[in-house]
Amino acid sequence: MTSLFHLVFFFLSLCIWSTSTSAGEHPLAWKSYLIRYWNKEVNTTNAIPNFLLSKASPLSAADSASFSKLAAQNVLSFHLPAFCASANLLCFPDLASNITSYRQDAIINYRPRFLYVKTYGNHKGSTATGDSVKKRVEPGTFFRVSMLKKGEVMAIPEMKDDMPKRSFLPRTMLSKLPLSTLELKKFFRVEDNSTMEAIIVKSLSECERAPSQSETKRCVGSAEDMIDFAVLVLGRNVAVRSTENVNGSKQNIMIGSVKEIDSGEEMQQAVSCHQSLFPYLLYYCHSVPNVQVYEVDMLDLNSKAKINHGVAICHMNTSDWSPSHEAFLALGSGPGRIEVCHWIYENDMTWTVAN
Ligand SMILES: *[C@@H]1O[C@H](CO)[C@@H](O)[C@H](O)[C@H]1NC(C)=O
Ligand SMILES: *[C@@H]1O[C@H](CO)[C@@H](O)[C@H](O)[C@H]1NC(C)=O
Ligand SMILES: *[C@@H]1O[C@H](CO)[C@@H](O)[C@H](O)[C@H]1NC(C)=O
Ligand SMILES: *[C@@H]1O[C@H](CO)[C@@H](O)[C@H](O)[C@H]1NC(C)=O
Ligand SMILES: *[C@@H]1O[C@H](CO)[C@@H](O)[C@H](O)[C@H]1NC(C)=O
Repeated sequence: MTSLFHLVFFFLSLCIWSTSTSAGEHPLAWKSYLIRYWNKEVNTTNAIPNFLLSKASPLSAADSASFSKLAAQNVLSFHLPAFCASANLLCFPDLASNITSYRQDAIINYRPRFLYVKTYGNHKGSTATGDSVKKRVEPGTFFRVSMLKKGEVMAIPEMKDDMPKRSFLPRTMLSKLPLSTLELKKFFRVEDNSTMEAIIVKSLSECERAPSQSETKRCVGSAEDMIDFAVLVLGRNVAVRSTENVNGSKQNIMIGSVKEIDSGEEMQQAVSCHQSLFPYLLYYCHSVPNVQVYEVDMLDLNSKAKINHGVAICHMNTSDWSPSHEAFLALGSGPGRIEVCHWIYENDMTWTVAN
């Protein structure tokens, strides 16, 4: 019933595009759709930011229709190369075979309370003894609010996204793909014991993990689902931010002007969305209470020219974080004794109430 509804809705949407474009074929069909979706669901005068819009599916209306038809007949999996290429997905085991992502591991440690499986060396330059992360905490990964002051010099960690580029799937197509690991493996023709299998298993287990006590979480594979989740948690007056680019990564920068984001609430709440490795673009979104978000100009140390517009999020109450959280190792303190800030890296984003 649901899929029939989606199918009907989907073809209705296609009709709207066809009538709105004279050629009947719009290469940016899902972008236009997403703009309209944002305008309908989000109650601000701000347009959807480009970094989010750019993740919309590149599928044309015609391709969407024909792949949907194949999905309805349960044979889309036999057209995987064409589907993956047109939809900008990461599908093939050989392409995925040697993918390792530091961030896939690193984001786990931003989450309070659960999963502190790794033990990190507690000196700069020491070797981690953890299972997969062989890196020490990069300088500048964590910092204090007091460092966000004009003229302050700060090390910036690597902000560049090291995951393969992918796009969201349109929600109507996502609803036609299987959800279980086993079925997904079959659909994407993933071999047993391949790296791609490990990637899928890892991301899905993150998604299925029960939220911690005060946490609300959802994995989203479409921009519409992400907007819905942010609106569900924060209401329709929302803004979404990300650091503008990756300039300043792995070097020292000077802090320029700092803007404290005012949400009109005493304890700011955010929804942070972290990218997961998966065949299609998948985000792990979760609510984070007691934060303060900042927009910060980053200046070149020598020329003092503005090189980046950074977004930082500070967790103001760390009392339920693990004492072995790498933030405390890096900053030399413990749970509840300090606030902990970090930058929003490329392709991650944070939502707050817009005042
Ligand atoms: C939309 O925004 C306006 C102006 O900020 C506000 O008055 C109104 O209550 C908002 N509506 C919803 C549904 O949030
Ligand atoms: C992964 O990379 C290593 C070294 O770069 C290479 O020796 C190995 O064959 C690669 N594995 C696969 C499955 O391609
Ligand atoms: C995958 O790994 C398991 C456990 O190591 C092994 O029993 C199984 O035979 C492997 N399957 C393939 C297809 O290599
Ligand atoms: C900052 O990054 C943008 C985009 O990557 C680039 O075009 C620009 O030249 C950079 N600016 C500086 C000052 O490095
Ligand atoms: C911080 O969080 C803990 C546990 O959630 C709570 O007991 C404490 O009152 C909070 N502290 C402040 C200053 O809000």
